[in-house]
Amino acid sequence: MRLLSATCGRNSGESRGSAHGSGMMSLLFFLAAVLSCHGCPEKCLCSSQTVKCQNQGFGAIPDSLPNNTRILFVTGNNIPRISSDSFPVQLEQLTELYLSGNELESVDAMVFHNLPNLVRLDLSNNSILNLSKRALPDDNKLQILNLSRSFHNHSRLDGLLSVLQSKKLLQLTSLDLSNNDLVILPDHPFINLPNLVNLTLQNSSIISVSNDTLNVPALRDLDLRDNSLRSLPYSTLAEFSLNPGLRIRLGGNPWRCNCLMDDMLLWLKNFTHVVDKQNLTCAEPPALKHRPLLQVELAQLKCSGNLESVLETSYVFLGLVLALIGVIFLLVLYLNRKGIKRWMYNIRDACRDHMEGYHYRYEINSDPRLANLSINSDV
Ligand SMILES: *[C@@H]1O[C@H](CO)[C@@H](O)[C@H](O)[C@H]1NC(C)=O
Ligand SMILES: *[C@@H]1O[C@H](CO)[C@@H](O)[C@H](O)[C@H]1NC(C)=O
Ligand SMILES: *[C@@H]1O[C@H](CO)[C@@H](O)[C@H](O)[C@H]1NC(C)=O
Ligand SMILES: *[C@@H]1O[C@H](CO)[C@@H](O)[C@H](O)[C@H]1NC(C)=O
Ligand SMILES: *[C@@H]1O[C@H](CO)[C@@H](O)[C@H](O)[C@H]1NC(C)=O
Ligand SMILES: *[C@@H]1O[C@H](CO)[C@@H](O)[C@H](O)[C@H]1NC(C)=O
Ligand SMILES: *[C@@H]1O[C@H](CO)[C@@H](O)[C@H](O)[C@H]1NC(C)=O
Ligand SMILES: *[C@@H]1O[C@H](CO)[C@@H](O)[C@H](O)[C@H]1NC(C)=O
Ligand SMILES: *[C@@H]1O[C@H](CO)[C@@H](O)[C@H](O)[C@H]1NC(C)=O
Ligand SMILES: *[C@@H]1O[C@H](CO)[C@@H](O)[C@H](O)[C@H]1NC(C)=O
Repeated sequence: MRLLSATCGRNSGESRGSAHGSGMMSLLFFLAAVLSCHGCPEKCLCSSQTVKCQNQGFGAIPDSLPNNTRILFVTGNNIPRISSDSFPVQLEQLTELYLSGNELESVDAMVFHNLPNLVRLDLSNNSILNLSKRALPDDNKLQILNLSRSFHNHSRLDGLLSVLQSKKLLQLTSLDLSNNDLVILPDHPFINLPNLVNLTLQNSSIISVSNDTLNVPALRDLDLRDNSLRSLPYSTLAEFSLNPGLRIRLGGNPWRCNCLMDDMLLWLKNFTHVVDKQNLTCAEPPALKHRPLLQVELAQLKCSGNLESVLETSYVFLGLVLALIGVIFLLVLYLNRKGIKRWMYNIRDACRDHMEGYHYRYEINSDPRLANLSINSDV
């Protein structure tokens, strides 16, 4: 009876009570108990309606789970695949299922079809390659989905996206996609999650967030810390502004503090959405490295391709062109040096002749006795 009362939570009171009754009654209750709920699976711990099968080297979900199980932990085992056989009996009361750390690779169609009231599903810390979009029943009641540390290859995300976009997760409020290798989010990944309130994308190698990515009206908590964001486009900031209740975390990203950061800096100063804005620091350029973004002046946000340096380079270019023209000019002079010499001599000779003629005439003119002669010599 001890064992049974430990394994079948809700029936335990009845079972224990019956032990004080007649032997016949006790036997009846014992049989009823055996029929109504299986015993606790071997190597698992069962208390109340919680069953824990942790770090026991299970290769599959243990069968013969008590049918009144409400919370099930099968964690830290080695279960590469779960399929429609994994939960062969309907577990009407199961609301929380924890399957983290099982080296799970494949989550097949119909796996959770016998768990119609599942509210919280934890598939974190696995290596999921295949995730079927038919794993959950169409009318599921899932509210919390934990896929943290589950996707290590961003080329294997199509399954995840088809689940998120399947229009089946209508009651989902919390989605944890942290510590994954996501890199780029496709268009509208969360648009079919109308009740999504908490979204964690921390440490998921994300390099950009477009305005369409996070067009999720119900969203209240968005964690984008520790990604690879260098900037956010103005259209994304504008989208954030439309959702006044949104709380965003952006710390731990390598912000590039150049001239394109001015929109975001103004936005950060003007709006209160970013709760950790004091924690944002520049990673580039080297002069501003580690500087808190809010302490950077707008005038310090420069681009290496901006007007000043364009002007500078055009001056340098102009100088080079002028120097080239000068060199060509000198070269022409050098090649023509004989002609130029001749030309110089000609000029010099012409000058000398002229000067001599002038000098002679002057001498004649200065001697009145030779005045006539000078007139004749001019002729
Ligand atoms: C458990 O299963 C038995 C029959 O196998 C059924 O009578 C009982 O109602 C079930 N209990 C729950 C909580 O589903
Ligand atoms: C992830 O699971 C492995 C076992 O598969 C375990 O050793 C490790 O501690 C877990 N890591 C976290 C962060 O839970
Ligand atoms: C998801 O699971 C991890 C452990 O693997 C835990 O640290 C984290 O808090 C969980 N997230 C949610 C939203 O429960
Ligand atoms: C994943 O699914 C594809 C088809 O959807 C299949 O070809 C492949 O074998 C599956 N891989 C695993 C590990 O189950
Ligand atoms: C990711 O998956 C692709 C194809 O599915 C494979 O070629 C690649 O090696 C994988 N990368 C890692 C790091 O596992
Ligand atoms: C960040 O995610 C990677 C996997 O993408 C993981 O290996 C690493 O431990 C995570 N970092 C932290 C601090 O959790
Ligand atoms: C969202 O997360 C916060 C803590 O980060 C928690 O207090 C809140 O209850 C969560 N909301 C929902 C709907 O899960
Ligand atoms: C996103 O921005 C583009 C232009 O930057 C705009 O055409 C589009 O309508 C925006 N989408 C949303 C949902 O605001
Ligand atoms: C600051 O925000 C208010 C509304 O909160 C808006 O009217 C104003 O134009 C914003 N200023 C700048 C510089 O963005
Ligand atoms: C800022 O960063 C520090 C250290 O990483 C952390 O302790 C603190 O909680 C962060 N502040 C906010 C508002 O997140």
